[in-house]
Amino acid sequence: MGLESATVMGMLKLRDVKETEVKGKRVLLRADFNVPLKDGKVAEDFRIRKTLPTINWLRENGASVAIVSHLGRPKGKVVPELSLRPVAERLSGLLGEEVPLIGDCIGDEVKSAVDELGPGGVILLENVRFHPGEEENDRSFARQLAEPFDLYVNDAFAVCHRAHASTVGVTEYLPSYAGFLLQEEVRVLSKLRESPERPFYLLIGGKKAKDKLGVLEEMLSKVDGILIGGGAAFTFLKAKGYEIGKSVLEEELLPKVKEIAERAYKEDVLLLLPRDVVVARELSDDAVGTVVPADRIPPDVMGLDIGPETVRVFSEKLKEAATVVWAGPMGAFEYKPFAKGTELIAKALAEAPGFTVVGGGETGEAVIKFGLEDKFDHLSTGGGATLAFLQGKPMPALEALVA
Ligand code: 3PG
Repeated sequence: MGLESATVMGMLKLRDVKETEVKGKRVLLRADFNVPLKDGKVAEDFRIRKTLPTINWLRENGASVAIVSHLGRPKGKVVPELSLRPVAERLSGLLGEEVPLIGDCIGDEVKSAVDELGPGGVILLENVRFHPGEEENDRSFARQLAEPFDLYVNDAFAVCHRAHASTVGVTEYLPSYAGFLLQEEVRVLSKLRESPERPFYLLIGGKKAKDKLGVLEEMLSKVDGILIGGGAAFTFLKAKGYEIGKSVLEEELLPKVKEIAERAYKEDVLLLLPRDVVVARELSDDAVGTVVPADRIPPDVMGLDIGPETVRVFSEKLKEAATVVWAGPMGAFEYKPFAKGTELIAKALAEAPGFTVVGGGETGEAVIKFGLEDKFDHLSTGGGATLAFLQGKPMPALEALVA
């Protein structure tokens, strides 16, 4: 069954890895270990930790496991800084035993490493995007990837919007199943798309409106309210006729943004924009932020966070919701003077009684930074993939796993 027909019928049903015998099998596990690095070490390991249940289940059930992942965008070339070595180190720490990193993801070195693995053994293969065949979804590369294995398991939800050799091509050569993280993401996000509890609010932020307009358009008729902060808000404020100083403006989006605002009005969907913003002359840790009303932003400054009145209004609304999806920080939270809005909204949402879902990517990073990781009903590991899924865009790697 194709993805569309499966989703139209309700929850997307993927082939569950638990439905197959894994004992004694050599398993190729696709994970998304595309994690932030700092000084050659993993800076934040959320995606790695979320894959552990699948890794452990496979091992406990007698499979030998080779994990394949990408890291960054090396564009088909070996880029030493994008080696998965730091990930192997972190994974070793999390599993409490050394996970060897194999120097490539195809070829004899992989074959002999896999042959030597006993039941429960685990290795990590080097960055699959070092080969051009990965992003080209090249058939012969996919066949080479599959060759040493009996089974393929995909637990890499965050890259399921990409038709690559390790997410799609390989499924032509091996019996293929979905891991637990992948199934959980699809279960929660399908529910949001198909039958969310109302009132349902969408909280949108992030640097640019461009990345979020698709989600806004798609979800508009399903939600009761849309709250917009972050850089994304300024194009909406401009569309209302406000002067926004040097704040980020995506001029080409103005007609679309106006259309969305009109649709929201016609369809009786609440559209909340910032009432006040924190502005500064520069974006740095030493910048001095000043709170100004959103309709009185001086010409020589830029808006970099939502202000306290906006935090209050947004927080009140979020308390009323039965479901909230949050995608995009409320300000430039990486910089201390502009982190407050995102932090306070994260805290308000953490305490909100409704079902709360946080998109991965930057929003996930913010939530983890503020120590609120466990306070939401679902913190997605996907950034672009989560938005693509909610927009109903094609998810080729899921389609390859539909039961
Ligand atoms: C992500 O971080 O969103 C995924 O790992 C996908 O990465 P990509 O956008 O480079 O394909």
